[in-house]
Amino acid sequence: MVGVPGHIMTVRLAILSRGPRLYSTRRLLEEAEKKDCYVEVLDPMRLSITVGNEEPRILNAGWPVEVDAVIPRIGYSITHHGVALIRQFERLGVYVANSSEGISHSRDKLHATQLLTKNRIPVPTTCHVRTWQDVEGALSKVGGMPVVVKVSEGTQGSGVFLVHSEDRARELTYKLLSEGHHVLVQEYIEESHGRDVRVIVVGGKVVAAMRRRARGREFRSNFHLNGTVEKIDLPDEFADVARRAARLLNLDIAGVDLLESERGPLVLEVNSSPGLEGIEGATGINVAGAIIEHCMMHQGFSNVGLDQLLRSRPGHGVVSVNISRHPILSGKQIGDVFTDVNEQFVFAVAREGMHIWKPRRTFLLRRGDEIICYGEIDKIHQQLAPWVSHSVDNNNVSPSTIEFSEDSC
Ligand SMILES: Nc1ncnc2c1ncn2[C@@H]1O[C@H](COP(=O)(O)OP(=O)(O)O)[C@@H](O)[C@H]1O
Ligand SMILES: [Mg+2]
Repeated sequence: MVGVPGHIMTVRLAILSRGPRLYSTRRLLEEAEKKDCYVEVLDPMRLSITVGNEEPRILNAGWPVEVDAVIPRIGYSITHHGVALIRQFERLGVYVANSSEGISHSRDKLHATQLLTKNRIPVPTTCHVRTWQDVEGALSKVGGMPVVVKVSEGTQGSGVFLVHSEDRARELTYKLLSEGHHVLVQEYIEESHGRDVRVIVVGGKVVAAMRRRARGREFRSNFHLNGTVEKIDLPDEFADVARRAARLLNLDIAGVDLLESERGPLVLEVNSSPGLEGIEGATGINVAGAIIEHCMMHQGFSNVGLDQLLRSRPGHGVVSVNISRHPILSGKQIGDVFTDVNEQFVFAVAREGMHIWKPRRTFLLRRGDEIICYGEIDKIHQQLAPWVSHSVDNNNVSPSTIEFSEDSC
């Protein structure tokens, strides 16, 4: 074959895990060995990072780690170091099955919810409360008692409480805040009491799905709280929401938890190191095999931190303008606003949770749109300045409310 290198190299795979004997780690190891890759389990806490102006490196007991692909299984207690380590693998151009950004975003339920709702993924209504005095307002926002109070960075059901009285909600919030947690007050989805749906998404495809049920009076359906699991045929709407949530969080391997509500699927959280025991047991599907297969296919590629990349050129960056804040732009064509025909600043318009990429100059803007531009920031501001200041005069908006917001596209 012309142009195709003839050599076949054994893929070197590392599973980052503190527990080589854990079910999920063992299964991944077993499936990787079947594929004839060179695989080892590395303890992330024993790997150190060197940064400086020389080549970045990762050392294991003083020896450089050289691998082609990494599957992170980073526990909650070591998120900070784990994410830094994965970032380093990314810098080295190694394929990492879950991006550093994806892991850190998914570990923070508030951050993940903000990202999902910005893209119109349905979630239970959630309030972040900063003082116990905020609780009353939060309760009415989420539809009254009972409510779920949870910490933003919890896992396996710890830090999740169903609360039936306002006093208890206040008391619990006070306690959790004083322990240094970020506290969320969330709408309780009664029709989903004691159960949820776990969907495993690998490389944008749904690989397996199960329903989890809590035992007895417990309302949390986590497998690690002794919940039971059963295989289900996943409705398309659920599959679609799960796939989109995993993609938005930049996770190649994700366990998406969904509540079955009267208004359809609601995303509860997206896990970046989903456990494999419950799902393989319930469905009989070789999920570990699908993960290894995916890694083999993609091991030549690495993640790009696009937001940071776009700022690396001096003076350049991504800027967005929301037309609801500057209604004078509504009804205008992009070419009316960006008159410099030599520059194509607008690379997307966000509309109703979707993006229209590279819109033409004749594209008509309307209320609710967000124009997303990339280029030299000063030039973009110059092009927009007459429109933005004009809208101030017309709408009596105080100048302090005018702002350009940086957007991570
Ligand atoms: N708003 C809610 N309404 C109904 N059940 C909920 C709600 N939030 C959590 N649960 C139940 O509690 C479990 C654990 O909540 P979750 O937010 O996923 O925390 P963790 O990260 O600890 O698993 C869920 O699997 C679900 O069964
Ligand atoms: Mg959960």
